[in-house]
Amino acid sequence: MSQVLVASNRGPVSFSLSGDGTLTMRRGGGGLVSGLAAVTGGPGQADGRRSGAAQDGPEALWVCAALGDGDREAARRAPDGRLDLDGHDIGGAAVRMLDIPAATFHRAYNAVANATLWFVHHLLYDTPSMPHFDARSRRDWQSYEAYNAAFADALARDAAAGAKAAIQDYHLSLAPRMLRDRRPDLKIAHFSHTPWAPPEYYRLLPDDLGERVLDGILGADHAGFLAERWAQAFLDCCALLPGAKVDRVAGTVTRGGHVTTVGVHGLGIDGDALRRRAAEPDVAARLEALRAQVGDRRLIVRVDRTELSKNIVRGLAAYRELLVNHPEWRGRVVHLVFAYPSRYDLPEYREYTEAVREAAARITEEFGTPGWNPLILQVNDDFPRSLAAYRMADVLLVNPIRDGMNLVAKEAPVVSDNGCALVLSREAGAAAELADHALLVNPYDVSQTAEAIHRALLMPREECAARREGLAAAATALPPRQWFADQLAALD
Ligand code: G6P
Repeated sequence: MSQVLVASNRGPVSFSLSGDGTLTMRRGGGGLVSGLAAVTGGPGQADGRRSGAAQDGPEALWVCAALGDGDREAARRAPDGRLDLDGHDIGGAAVRMLDIPAATFHRAYNAVANATLWFVHHLLYDTPSMPHFDARSRRDWQSYEAYNAAFADALARDAAAGAKAAIQDYHLSLAPRMLRDRRPDLKIAHFSHTPWAPPEYYRLLPDDLGERVLDGILGADHAGFLAERWAQAFLDCCALLPGAKVDRVAGTVTRGGHVTTVGVHGLGIDGDALRRRAAEPDVAARLEALRAQVGDRRLIVRVDRTELSKNIVRGLAAYRELLVNHPEWRGRVVHLVFAYPSRYDLPEYREYTEAVREAAARITEEFGTPGWNPLILQVNDDFPRSLAAYRMADVLLVNPIRDGMNLVAKEAPVVSDNGCALVLSREAGAAAELADHALLVNPYDVSQTAEAIHRALLMPREECAARREGLAAAATALPPRQWFADQLAALD
């Protein structure tokens, strides 16, 4: 039985299955692993192998969903449902992967979590035509309930008396309530890694489903958010929920006699670990290759998953406007665009990926010369190459429509070699922490973004270096271990 439990859709490991039936495990990164390690006393190193030394903290379990065929096979082969981690350490935790039927998983993850809740919280709908809730949406919703119930069952089964469960994100908004119903003795936290929609937008959801989501999270003892704005928006939505009483001073919501505290836990990065990683030879090799491509031109970098909320197409339009309005930059600047694949099962994402490619190709065609390629687009995910780009960047562009936090804005300043100016959307959660040292923009205002890039390119070296110091300090102020410990502490 475990004293600390984490639940998230995507787990800390994934498996691929080869033709001969061999399973190969890959370990994901993520702040939660080091957060857990700090709580359990486990090693939690990036490639951590168990040292054999006993950990002195509480026993921990991470419950996640099997995402692909390899994961499903690993879950099926797992004795008593706990994965064989092949000697690897995952923050001192055991891992249980839930083999949820593929159709149920697909509807819960794609149709409800990603194509509905994500769209609501990031304000992504083109409202004259979407959303459109009908009988099919109800069927999808039932799958979302079944998926959440599978997590609640697993947590209820493995939790020791009085244990703490930290349930993550919009995939699992019903699970806190379901778990409380099964195990009233537990202390339950829910954490939203996304923004939260303002009430007028939240009300796009069918009334009963919107209420179910709020009621689900209010099943927790503590509901955490990355930024004050998102916590306030959640309270605003709760204020409209029948039977709920919101105390804004205390930051609590009371409903059916149960009190949920609402808190803000910003998530930053582990500066030392990232600097060490950025100094490794694979990063240096990529840095050299990029330098050969870019020469001594100024470099504007962006690194994103190809995700509608990341606003990549408007970012490209801003770069185009820079080259039109300030032709002096032509031939003297290169825009490096890393747009990594994401959620390709959703047609909206496939279309957006195409729109990014087209916008990039148009810029190359319009401005490129035999001696100058104005834009380099890379779509294959390569973390060491992203780190190399961070180190080299003169300007980092982070312009999401809306973002829970945005860790790219925090990572680049920490590893930058010569200081980089940050052009940052005011709608990213990170803006609240980085505003003093970044150039803030309205993500819908392409012209303003273009001018901010221009200003960033002209920023004197000393100013850039001073701002970098400020950005790096703010970015590392709340490392993942503290973020996670704070969530658990809020349950005491
Ligand atoms: C981003 C968001 C998280 C979310 C994750 C899911 O990182 O910030 O809130 O949990 O995406 O991504 P996935 O690839 O698993 O759909």
